[in-house]
Amino acid sequence: MTQSENHQTAKSPDHSMFTIGVIGAGQMGHGIAHVMLRAGHIVLLLDTSKDLVEAGAKRIIKGLARDVEKERLTKEACEQALTRLKTATMPTKPAKPAIPKELFFPRRADLAAADVIIEAVTEKFDVKAGVFRLLERYCPPETIFASNTSSISITRLAAATGRPAKFVGLHFFNPVPVMKLVEVVPGLQTAPETVETAIVLAASAGKTPVRVNDFPGFVSNRVLMPMINEAVFCLMEGVADAAGIDNVMKLGMNHPMGPLELADLIGLDVCRDIMMVLYESFHDSKYRPCPLLEKMVAAGWLGCKSGRGFYEYPKK
Ligand code: CAA
Repeated sequence: MTQSENHQTAKSPDHSMFTIGVIGAGQMGHGIAHVMLRAGHIVLLLDTSKDLVEAGAKRIIKGLARDVEKERLTKEACEQALTRLKTATMPTKPAKPAIPKELFFPRRADLAAADVIIEAVTEKFDVKAGVFRLLERYCPPETIFASNTSSISITRLAAATGRPAKFVGLHFFNPVPVMKLVEVVPGLQTAPETVETAIVLAASAGKTPVRVNDFPGFVSNRVLMPMINEAVFCLMEGVADAAGIDNVMKLGMNHPMGPLELADLIGLDVCRDIMMVLYESFHDSKYRPCPLLEKMVAAGWLGCKSGRGFYEYPKK
């Protein structure tokens, strides 16, 4: 495991080097940790089990090695980046007062030193809010909390914490090391300096931050998800087969991936959940998830991550 016990974790006053906590070592979390390390920041990567954290760290190591191969990073910079990666597991619930917190949380001091925490866990309000409530036990009031949510209201998440002024949406795109955009989403109570720090942080990682107001789906998923959902309706109604639909959008619209391939990459469960957020937020039937999408999610056909979605993906 790549860890450095002795790295300086004091808060960086000039923000040239941030200490970042990334919660969730999955597809988005490990990608965010990767780009933050590549940008020179200190990263503490957390998930609920050792296996999950180690799997995320392995993907980061592989990604950084790929950066060296492609000459985006020198070998020395890669080695340094790895010394700035720390990992830990975190509990799913606050520890009972009778049990020493250290048993649950070996990196409490590191977490307390973080300038910004970026949460990238399951796209469910209760899970995210639970993570932030837990983090409030470990992080001082000045630590900025950011959520990588793709559709949940930032204002509502912020209100579930005791620091709504220090809360912001930082919405990265998959695959994180490749996609240039970060939507920076202030909630109703977010302080201007929190937004400014979020913009500086995203830019430091080589991303183009675009400030977007807190509306369901922001801009990205308000536009993208109905397109994907409509492609699923086309498939369900037999307008064309999956490859045909994707080819129309790739060859006719110059999209790098067809909407069904992209849905497989994002995860069909994520697409369905985002459609539900749009549907329930706007109370407009145009956002209802396509029944075929619902059925595939129910079957466990979730796309690349489950080996089957609109296409099949042999296990690597
Ligand atoms: N993870 C990490 N890296 C990946 C990757 C993945 N899943 N897929 C491709 N890459 C990397 C490749 O390794 C390659 O990197 P190198 O420079 O090191 O070689 C680079 O991307 C280009 O890949 P390829 O040459 O193999 O393929 P490509 O040129 O066709 O690009 C793609 C692949 C970048 C995924 C491109 O098809 C694309 O841009 N697709 C659209 C992706 C998209 O729309 N993402 C947004 C999804 S929505 C979202 O994330 C937000 C949300 O809230 C749901």
